[in-house]
Amino acid sequence: MDVIELMNSMEYGPAPESPKQADAWLDGHDRRFGHYINGGWKKSKGTKTFKTRNPATGRVLADIAQGGRNDVNAAVKAARAAQAGWVGLGGHGRARHLYALARSIQKHSRLLAVLETLDNGKPVRESRDIDVPLAARHFYHHAGWAQLMEAEFPDYLPLGVIGQIVPWNFPLLMLSWKIAPALAAGNTVVLKPAEYTSLTALRFAELCDETGLPPGVVNIVTGDGRTGEMIVNHANVDKIAFTGSTEVGGLIRKQTAGSGKKLSLELGGKSPFIVFPDADLDSAVEGVVDAIWFNQGQVCCAGSRLLVQEGIAKTFTGKIKARMQTLRIGDPLDKCIDMGAIIDPRQLKRIEKLVETGVSEGAELWQADNPLPKNGCFYPPTLLEKVTPSSTVAQQEIFGPVLTVTTFRTPDEAVELANNSRYGLAASIWSENINLALGVAPALKAGVVWINTTNQLDAAAGFGGYRESGFGREGGREGMYEYMKPSFENSLRPAPKAEPRAAKAKRAAAPALDRTAKLYIGGRQVRPDGGYSAPVHSADGALIGEVAAGNRKDIRNAVEAAHKAAAWATADGHNRAQILYYIAENLSARADEFAARLVAMTGASAGPAGREVEAAIARLFTYGAWADKYDGAVHSPPLRGVTMAINEPVGIIGLACPDGNPLLGLVSLLAPAIAMGNRVVVIPSRRHALSATDFYQVLDTSDLPGGVVNIVTGERDELAFCLASHDQVDGVWYFGSRRGSAEIETLAARTIKRTWVNHGLERDFLDGVQGEGREFLRHATEIKNIWIPYGE
Ligand code: NAI
Repeated sequence: MDVIELMNSMEYGPAPESPKQADAWLDGHDRRFGHYINGGWKKSKGTKTFKTRNPATGRVLADIAQGGRNDVNAAVKAARAAQAGWVGLGGHGRARHLYALARSIQKHSRLLAVLETLDNGKPVRESRDIDVPLAARHFYHHAGWAQLMEAEFPDYLPLGVIGQIVPWNFPLLMLSWKIAPALAAGNTVVLKPAEYTSLTALRFAELCDETGLPPGVVNIVTGDGRTGEMIVNHANVDKIAFTGSTEVGGLIRKQTAGSGKKLSLELGGKSPFIVFPDADLDSAVEGVVDAIWFNQGQVCCAGSRLLVQEGIAKTFTGKIKARMQTLRIGDPLDKCIDMGAIIDPRQLKRIEKLVETGVSEGAELWQADNPLPKNGCFYPPTLLEKVTPSSTVAQQEIFGPVLTVTTFRTPDEAVELANNSRYGLAASIWSENINLALGVAPALKAGVVWINTTNQLDAAAGFGGYRESGFGREGGREGMYEYMKPSFENSLRPAPKAEPRAAKAKRAAAPALDRTAKLYIGGRQVRPDGGYSAPVHSADGALIGEVAAGNRKDIRNAVEAAHKAAAWATADGHNRAQILYYIAENLSARADEFAARLVAMTGASAGPAGREVEAAIARLFTYGAWADKYDGAVHSPPLRGVTMAINEPVGIIGLACPDGNPLLGLVSLLAPAIAMGNRVVVIPSRRHALSATDFYQVLDTSDLPGGVVNIVTGERDELAFCLASHDQVDGVWYFGSRRGSAEIETLAARTIKRTWVNHGLERDFLDGVQGEGREFLRHATEIKNIWIPYGE
């Protein structure tokens, strides 16, 4: 017998992990748990409970309390009461607590790993080697941010009480991603684990207690979606951080609309796994295993869509099939197991149904004949070949061990197929040609891109998606901003109500020639679709001009023009800077005319009007300066390689401008957006629209490519709502009323659009802190983390 025969004929011996300690812990609690509120266990009388089961056996593990209104109220109250003291500890004080939690997770790592595997069904190899170490890493990393808080975020405050809702696929890890940054920034939290997997969160509650975390800083309320909804709708919560399905994410966006609650959403994905012909195919096969059979494919960033170059497709899928035959599915507590159980029979049914749909739509099903356990909730590793890009299984998240296969011919086609998704969470590129891989990475609409690797995660590198994969990032500096606000926000007041101006019958001074300002779309002045005009009056009611009254069709045309101007997104910073300086130069040449217009429209005297024009010129300079300086970062995560965090434009942004300081307000929104490579559709203040229509004459003479800035005058809110509903608009900034802000957030829920609204509060755009800077640049960019391992 030679070595190969020997290796092929060897059987795996069982390598079972003992559940003894985990069982003892459960027994110690009589297998019944209450909520962890204000540093103690709360079991109210008559509390309803539900059972949590081991999906690998169906065995009941414990009774979990179903959180009701009283529980949520008590938890929020405790969190609120604890917050001042928690902030009062200072960064260093909080860092010590976070450090203690990190150490404690490490000290109890085995119990946490076994509990996770029992409750979730994932292989203990994964919970032991991935989930728990990454959870500890998150607390270490954020102990560091707490320590540096005062130095690194001097003008920022914590938000207050954070409601956090996590899913079942990485229960402890997602808890850490949520709790660590929130606490580091000085917030207190109410967290709800998923109903299938509450146990590690409850053990974590004990760790909080054991490490001496002040009562009320962390509160854990268990329950299903109804409990989650109560947290979302609680009036005394300042932010919701959610990870879960896109469907529930959209619902939460609607429910929090207009409430002023900050929101971050980490939702689903349908991430492409792209294999070019020059890839190291054997490594790529192992990549596929990690991409789609890790955690049974129940991973939001799972590489679930294999896009493989046509010429190597047969060879590559052949290799995958051979590898699939060797995957071992079974008892997740066995350390030699590759794939464990699916979370719940309901999820199993969902997977089965989606696979059936795939086959009925023409996909070819291939499954290895690996034995599955007789009992429990298991699904075999599955390949769906010949999947067309528009089929259900290519578009919908299956959240199971199912890989779809589609072929492509050229890199451009690969990019097109990869981006043909409503999601944009992650992507994986396999090629030995670094030029090709680094060329494709920026073209992909995804928050995380892995080159020749996959499913890498680290606390220093922000994680989060584009489009319907949600907004906000978890981890890194960018993740910290999700839990803070600029300190000036506390002093903002509602904008004064703009009283309708009583029009005077007579014109103030009849112009020599009647001139109605048109719309500015695609670099040209165009008449409005509807053929209507709207008057613009002076402060004392005299008619001083007319502007076009744009409608939904004009918005559609403007978005289309912006879409065509996509080259702006890849123009270099130096190029964009020059154009911004040129706009400033041309505005400066006409400063007196612009000041006179402000005097006429707003009734301001010449001094302030002149200062507003000067401030607008300076602001254009500011963003000309930033255009080639708002750089990303290079992280050094624990892998042989680097992670490049690059700032990308959001895409097409709708800008609804404020009424106050009409010229400066417009420039303050427009300049950072275009400096970062976005294309914009601007809706100027209705009553002061002439500043905007004068401004496009400046744009016309400044070498700005047509379609980068489009200006549609008319009823601001109506037009802004069209933008918020538009599928091709990637973000909306709205500086108007409270009610309008609520409507924008509601409308944006359908496509999970990024929004930035002022909730009717007035920002002082003349102020250097409130009116410009990094806050604006952050809103104008998406951070993409590109993982680049190196070495042989
Ligand atoms: P889900 O989105 O319903 O559950 C996630 C969390 O949200 C749980 O804690 C749940 O109790 C809570 N929740 C449910 N309804 C809520 C509501 N109305 N308000 C507040 N909280 C609420 O996800 P589910 O039903 O467990 O899984 C369904 C599908 O969602 C999966 O098949 C998968 O496609 C996707 N999913 C994606 C995840 C991700 O990490 N992106 C995680 C979990 C599920």
